[in-house]
Amino acid sequence: MAEKVDFKKSLSQHLLVVGLCVVVAVYLIPSPIDPKPYFFADPPQMTGPLKVNRRLQKADRLFKGRVFGPESLAVDKEGVFYTGGLDGKIWRFHDHSLELLARTGSNYSECGSPELEPECGRPKGVAIDNKGSLYVADAYKGLLQVNTTTGEVNILLPSEKGLDGIPFKFLNGMTISKSGVLYFTDSSSKWDRRSHKYEIIENNALGRLIEYDPASGEARVLLSGLHMANGVSLSPHEDFLLVSELNICRITRYFLRGPKAGTSEIFTDNLPGYPDNIKATSAGTYFIGLAASRIQKSRFMRPFLDVIAPYPAIKRFITKITPLSVYALFIPKHVLFIEVDQQGNIVDSFHDPDGAVISACSEAFEHDGKVYLGHFGTDYIGVIGMADLKSNVT
Ligand SMILES: *[C@@H]1O[C@H](CO)[C@@H](O)[C@H](O)[C@H]1NC(C)=O
Ligand SMILES: *[C@@H]1O[C@H](CO)[C@@H](O)[C@H](O)[C@H]1NC(C)=O
Repeated sequence: MAEKVDFKKSLSQHLLVVGLCVVVAVYLIPSPIDPKPYFFADPPQMTGPLKVNRRLQKADRLFKGRVFGPESLAVDKEGVFYTGGLDGKIWRFHDHSLELLARTGSNYSECGSPELEPECGRPKGVAIDNKGSLYVADAYKGLLQVNTTTGEVNILLPSEKGLDGIPFKFLNGMTISKSGVLYFTDSSSKWDRRSHKYEIIENNALGRLIEYDPASGEARVLLSGLHMANGVSLSPHEDFLLVSELNICRITRYFLRGPKAGTSEIFTDNLPGYPDNIKATSAGTYFIGLAASRIQKSRFMRPFLDVIAPYPAIKRFITKITPLSVYALFIPKHVLFIEVDQQGNIVDSFHDPDGAVISACSEAFEHDGKVYLGHFGTDYIGVIGMADLKSNVT
């Protein structure tokens, strides 16, 4: 009898010691991140212009299984499209013909894996000027120009050098003015594209918005301290720029001209997802792709990132014990992009609530009566007629 009590006692002592060791060990593991607290407002109600519909389910998938991660699109005067892939490839397409134009990095058969991204290159933002010069913001390589005849790649601003003494770590969105001036973002000066989940959780406002004039070769930082600067768009009159701050679901406006030139303000806030690329539409509005949504199945559930945002200690702890791949589980399947007017009001939204046809959408690019849908992780380019997109039949 006495022996049994002793055994129980020693077992519980052992467990206590083991438990303490685990706690101390986890405490001693350095966290990969050094987060700041942030407080999100409750996500918007999905009513009015955000009312859930199934319009994106009328889309088609182009080049399925042939292009990987076509995040951003540009089109020239002849209607020829350009896009980059997660494997470093630059593609060109017209109607249903797809052609490999170039690669931004080394040509290995294993390109497309996160390990090789820095070597293979990862083209993100693409832009083309009136003369047909193609520019690419490569997440790793820098700001590039690609000769559309030869496929030759020329580095205009290398990432190692960066700007103002800070190397580029994660080039991302890009747009071009009518006179050929480029505007692009560096999402973070700390985390590269492969580590974007750490960037999102840490949320330390290390992004920049940069201007580059190919004619003079001059570059300057317009804004710094952005919360993962992502997509960028010019206003129709080119008097201001809009830039996505993905981490905090916000679009910031930077004035290029007029009395507020050189200053910035919030354009729209508390979006129903994490904003990626912004594209002006023919209707004078903007389509804003949401890399992931904040829409939960139950209205009593709050988005994971909203819940952990105020607590640096919890964020530090979670990143100690969770591999990066696990975070994808917290992303709702609900896919949408939104339409925003010149005052920053959401005026419409386009959904695939199950991700059945369009499984993700980081860019919606209108051209000639159609809208092309890109994303950094899909293996197709979505396309839908403007009339279908705007129809109210769900
Ligand atoms: C890359 O290598 C493959 C296989 O060697 C080759 O077919 C292809 O033309 C090369 N170039 C590009 C730009 O992919
Ligand atoms: C592209 O390469 C061709 C052939 O070398 C050259 O004639 C042309 O000027 C180049 N285009 C640009 C935009 O550099």
